[in-house]
Amino acid sequence: MSDTSTAKPVLYSGIQPSGSIQLGNYIGALRNFTKLEKDYRCLFGIADLHALTVRQEPAALRKQTQQLAALYIACGLDPDANIIYCQSHVPAHAELAWVLNCYSYMGELSRMTQYKDKSARHSDNINAGLFTYPVLMAADILLYQTSVVPVGADQKQHLEITRDIAQRFNGLYGDVFEVPEPYIPKETARIMSLTDPTRKMSKSDSEESYIALLDAPDVIRRKLRRAVTDSEGEIRVDPDNKPGVTNLITILSGMTGQTAEEACASLAGKGYGELKDAVADAVIEVLTPIQQRYQQLIADKDYLAQVLNTNAERAAALARRTLRKVYKKVGLYQG
Ligand code: TRP
Repeated sequence: MSDTSTAKPVLYSGIQPSGSIQLGNYIGALRNFTKLEKDYRCLFGIADLHALTVRQEPAALRKQTQQLAALYIACGLDPDANIIYCQSHVPAHAELAWVLNCYSYMGELSRMTQYKDKSARHSDNINAGLFTYPVLMAADILLYQTSVVPVGADQKQHLEITRDIAQRFNGLYGDVFEVPEPYIPKETARIMSLTDPTRKMSKSDSEESYIALLDAPDVIRRKLRRAVTDSEGEIRVDPDNKPGVTNLITILSGMTGQTAEEACASLAGKGYGELKDAVADAVIEVLTPIQQRYQQLIADKDYLAQVLNTNAERAAALARRTLRKVYKKVGLYQG
């Protein structure tokens, strides 16, 4: 079936190619993405243009972009059934972002908490791209007539502004854009930091606090052995009083497919050392085939380039239809 004839609702997901993908992303997002292709026409955008809003080492950015594409595929996303592509390969993103900039207000953009946080953290580089970041994200989403967007808490506000911009534009010009909804997965496992289990696992924290999908088995085991627990010695789920142990159980059940109760039962009478080893075994078992597939893909640069080119063309064909409509509506002479 061609990309345009499908009646499935569109799901759009974007990930920036900055830094490594960690276990929390895998359990909370990537792993479930493979189940979505049945019900949705899925686009997985590698948001390289967004990455430019903070300074990047050019060679590293290029490498991380390829790595992310390879990881998506290694995690089981089929690049024929889904559209896995690079944002910068589809010029319509930048083109629509410009138009939408003219329909976005300084006031609403300056209220974005991520902008406020990032401009505080990168006070030497508060560039205009950082400010209009949500408008580019709105363009990503709206170009494909997206129905649902899986977003974590940190991107919720950006989805809200996307909806506002879409509704504003539709109010002026008729129904040009589908107004996207957040996609809330049925079960959401929140994976916490290994060093501070009251915080979400994040690749922007210290290396010891997260497991990267490409961490070697001995690194995975070491990080888990050092994970913060408590002095009680009892293995049970209690997020308030035992966030570290609860997190290890959540990871274990995320890896084995057991419920938290089953995971606890399987460790009855055992100590934290055994819990940590069981988690390490389970994580290594799941990640090893992904890492092997990843190594094959990353070694085959021609294949990766070909996949990204073909998929960019597929995305561009869809994006062009929306962009043309927008240009026409706002009065750009199309000949
Ligand atoms: N801004 C998102 C993030 O940092 C990445 C992103 C870019 C995105 N474009 C998107 C997410 C479109 C969802 C939809 O996490």
